[in-house]
Amino acid sequence: MTNRIFKSGLGLLGVLAMSGAAAAQDAEARLVLNEETPMVTVADAPEHMADTGIRTIYSGWAFRTGTTQELQADDFINPAFLAVDEAIVAWDEVDGTAGESCANCHGDVEESMAGVRAVYPRWNEEAGELRTLAAQINNCRTEQMGAEPYKYDGSEMTAMEALISVQSRGMPVNVAIDGPVADIWEQGREMYYTRFGQLELSCANCHEQNYGNYIRADHLSQGQINGFPTYRLKQNALIQTQNRFRGCIRDTRAETYAVGSPEFDALELYVASRGNGLSVEGPAVRP
Ligand code: HEC
Ligand code: HEC
Repeated sequence: MTNRIFKSGLGLLGVLAMSGAAAAQDAEARLVLNEETPMVTVADAPEHMADTGIRTIYSGWAFRTGTTQELQADDFINPAFLAVDEAIVAWDEVDGTAGESCANCHGDVEESMAGVRAVYPRWNEEAGELRTLAAQINNCRTEQMGAEPYKYDGSEMTAMEALISVQSRGMPVNVAIDGPVADIWEQGREMYYTRFGQLELSCANCHEQNYGNYIRADHLSQGQINGFPTYRLKQNALIQTQNRFRGCIRDTRAETYAVGSPEFDALELYVASRGNGLSVEGPAVRP
């Protein structure tokens, strides 16, 4: 019995965790962007999480330390804004066989994209499919512009996602989970609780049952995605949501899904919905 528990993911996690009763995230810290826009980094958990035992949801920002938190609070020093500037240029650039640019159809990015990031992934009625923000951007490129799709988790995509996200910062994440997406959401929820890999760990084992604890040097958060794409200082790059999922699954020594796969889209919808009520923060900064 002991042996069995030891071999299971939870036992292993217990061994990995450096300090069982680690200090919780700093509940007093407040994120105010550019000294003017207050962000909701702590909120009541959405109703659909009633049976998870989590009553309060926290942005990943709340688990980071001083310098990283400060970098995110000021657009002048947030390193992600170099990419945002590149995307402002790309927004106006004609590309593809139709001779179109994003701006030709959507006009001013600040107006047309306000609130968009907060509701993605979202159902596209006409196509009858769930679209992540990245999938929607690529759909516009291929179907509207006759252009090559961006690499799903490449730098042009993350930059464009960051630019679009900026237009929703401070607005509450508000992803729909019912109606036509109900089954996909359910699939995503199942994945969240599925144990992956040699370590037999699910997303929930780390981000639901152990947030606030440490795995080696990492202070575990709730694995929210309201800050994506996030700038990772370690990698000197903006990281795409599904790329982050891949990293976490790889850490369990499992084979992982492809970015842009139906499985990851379902997981993204579910994870996004666990952040309903937190502010959109992307592009956030992480160690
Ligand atoms: C020829 C016109 C056209 C061009 C060019 C175009 N789009 Fe779109 N875009 C649309 C239409 C139409 C929709 C409505 C949704 C759909 O695809 O059915 C849309 C929807 C979107 C949405 C979702 C908005 C929402 O409220 O859900 C995003 C984000 C977006 N486009 C981004 C881009 C970006 C980024 C570019 C440039 C790389 C671009 N689009 C280029 C026509 C265009
Ligand atoms: C072995 C434990 C472990 C498992 C299992 C795991 N993660 Fe993570 N995850 C981490 C660690 C450690 C970090 C970095 C610290 C943090 O932000 O929590 C992280 C970070 C993240 C982040 C970034 C959060 C932010 O604010 O920057 C997301 C999103 C995430 N994980 C999602 C997932 C999903 C979805 C799954 C399941 C497919 C998963 N993780 C499985 C350990 C894990």
